[in-house]
Amino acid sequence: MIEAAELARFELFDRVDPHALGHLAARFAEADLGAGAVVFHQGDTDDRFVIVLAGTLEVVRGIGDQQRRLAVCGPGSILGELSLLRHRPRVASVSALSAVRLAVGDHQAFDELLSIAVVHDRLADTTARRLAEVARPLPLVLGDGTGAFVRPLVRSDRTRFAAEVRALLPESRRRRFFTSGTPSDRLIDYLVNIDYVDHFAWTIGSTDGRGLGTGRYVRDDAHPERAEVAFGVADDMQGKGLGTLLLGALGAAATQTGITTFVADVLEENLPMRKVFDKAGATWRRTDAGVVSATMDVDATRPLITAEQWDMFTAASAEIVTGATLAHHAGAAGERPDQRSGQDAGS
Ligand SMILES: CC(C)(COP(=O)(O)OP(=O)(O)OC[C@H]1O[C@@H](n2cnc3c(N)ncnc32)[C@H](O)[C@@H]1OP(=O)(O)O)[C@@H](O)C(=O)NCCC(=O)NCCS
Repeated sequence: MIEAAELARFELFDRVDPHALGHLAARFAEADLGAGAVVFHQGDTDDRFVIVLAGTLEVVRGIGDQQRRLAVCGPGSILGELSLLRHRPRVASVSALSAVRLAVGDHQAFDELLSIAVVHDRLADTTARRLAEVARPLPLVLGDGTGAFVRPLVRSDRTRFAAEVRALLPESRRRRFFTSGTPSDRLIDYLVNIDYVDHFAWTIGSTDGRGLGTGRYVRDDAHPERAEVAFGVADDMQGKGLGTLLLGALGAAATQTGITTFVADVLEENLPMRKVFDKAGATWRRTDAGVVSATMDVDATRPLITAEQWDMFTAASAEIVTGATLAHHAGAAGERPDQRSGQDAGS
């Protein structure tokens, strides 16, 4: 039997009412497995999830030499919940790296878990990040015929993203960050630490793993229907339509989170950025000396990409946002969690 005290020591259950935790603990079965045991198989469908009580497990996606380790998880981790939320086959396999002790739950235990408000919110955040990690890259053919892909930017892109930003010419960095200095580690952390509801970013990558460009929006706390957009495209890739594509892709994602207006501050001389925003019917206002502020309707970004691309980006972001609201279970489709702390697009 799983004791409430075994769960209470984990961050996921911090400040949870002991009575509710006791109720939840009683819903779990216990499992003690040896190193090498497989807990979940990629492709399987079942309605179990686990909370790791002791030991470590690895999460691996793909088969044969295409395998990629997504994570190593220890005590306090929850695993297997994506399949329950999405009613889809498992996207990764999970196996024990050491002897493990697990609390194993089913649908009912999962519903009980989500009915505890603080756990729900913590889980929503984790789920959105995991869905972004496993999102299928969307294929793209560049103007010169080379292949590329677009997918949500995730934390594990940090090294690649930092290289992409630091490789920008000083002039491009100045246009992006309003200073030509190298962005700090802290800023890079912020830019890859994304919740996909109030802060969303798409990244374009080449098939050989190079970061070609990133576009993001960050919701305005004071005006939740509004978000600030910002872009960075590798110098040798500028002028080839990636900025336009990213704005369209962000528009598709924004429709999933109730954002109707995009805004951006742009250096007055930044003609390529102004041109991209003009394509979305931006209206302009001078703010500081040398800076102009663009405002555009999210709907107006739709014609910037093909109908097929719009549908593709909408579907991919809807999946992540749905995960972020845990809508399958909480019945909160279309709603978004409470506002998070103040953020801006880092520009
Ligand atoms: C601004 C930026 C994101 C645009 O991305 P991009 O991939 O170059 O954009 P696109 O190719 O989709 O569109 C650029 C448009 O500007 C046009 N353009 C380029 N240089 C120009 C210039 N000097 N004058 C006028 N238009 C220009 C291009 O012809 C293109 O228009 P078109 O599609 O009608 O041909 C990219 O140039 C960049 O990363 N710049 C440095 C960082 C930055 O400025 N970030 C924006 C901060 S908000």
